[in-house]
Amino acid sequence: MLKGKHLIEPFDFSLEELEQVFDLADGIILAPENYLDVCKGKILATLFYEPSTRTRFSFEAAMQRLGGQIIGFDDPNTSSAAKGESLSDTIRTIACYADVSVLRHPREGTAKLASKYTDMPVINAGDGGHQHPTQTLTDLLTIRKYHKEIKNLTVGVCGDLKFGRTIHSLVKALSRYENIHFKMISPEELRMPKYILEDLEDGSYEITDNLETSIGDVDILYMSRVQRERFVSEDEYQRLKDFFILDKTKMELAKEDMIVMHPLPRVNEISKEIDSDKRCIYFEQARFGMFVRMALIMKLLGVAIA
Ligand code: CP
Repeated sequence: MLKGKHLIEPFDFSLEELEQVFDLADGIILAPENYLDVCKGKILATLFYEPSTRTRFSFEAAMQRLGGQIIGFDDPNTSSAAKGESLSDTIRTIACYADVSVLRHPREGTAKLASKYTDMPVINAGDGGHQHPTQTLTDLLTIRKYHKEIKNLTVGVCGDLKFGRTIHSLVKALSRYENIHFKMISPEELRMPKYILEDLEDGSYEITDNLETSIGDVDILYMSRVQRERFVSEDEYQRLKDFFILDKTKMELAKEDMIVMHPLPRVNEISKEIDSDKRCIYFEQARFGMFVRMALIMKLLGVAIA
């Protein structure tokens, strides 16, 4: 039963609950006209203390396509946070007005903290370099669409594995599925945090800094942006930002049915020259993000079509 739950990290939902969300998203994709009014009279609040395009707009579009309404801010300086209001007071206040909330914040653990002060469902839309569970819902739905089943896959995660919260959430989520092997492709300085690796089975992952020698083995290549906003040193960012650039030459080494995913936004890590390659599905992935968020909102609010 997902009604009333918070979503702070992927493990908050069981595999069965995830399947329920994906099955509903599939139904919405097939016949969105059946869902036009299911959230009539409901309000979604978006609290974005950090910039966003996909997450905020897809949540807002999702709620509006379900017939609900939205309130919120994308600049905390326009809220009473600028006057020193605590997050706990803000979330308790928002719960007086909204039925479900979406929170993005630069500090790790903020969504978890907020969820302790309210029964209104809190959805973590990214907390610092920690987790981004609704991107993971998007990613898993996309994998289901292209590979039919989430099992027996070699998944390359490439780029900023240290600060990339979408990658942290995805690897944690995929580790629960059958026979998933990871290739963790990053420069030494941007390796996957130990707390993620410790939860993985021995032998289920390899660590490398070589994209060329890894790309031919993977079924999914999940590229990521080097997260400039998390670096203490701008010089260090400049040194590492173009460590990997996926281009035509590297794509020639990949399998014909491999897919390239990316949570977006991208900077330089995927050359635009390969956007037209049918294996590059990152904009389709962003589209699925809206449908899976529609399904998530419906499940947390406990609404269904008649
Ligand atoms: N993928 C993602 O979180 O994108 P935004 O930062 O644009 O929301």
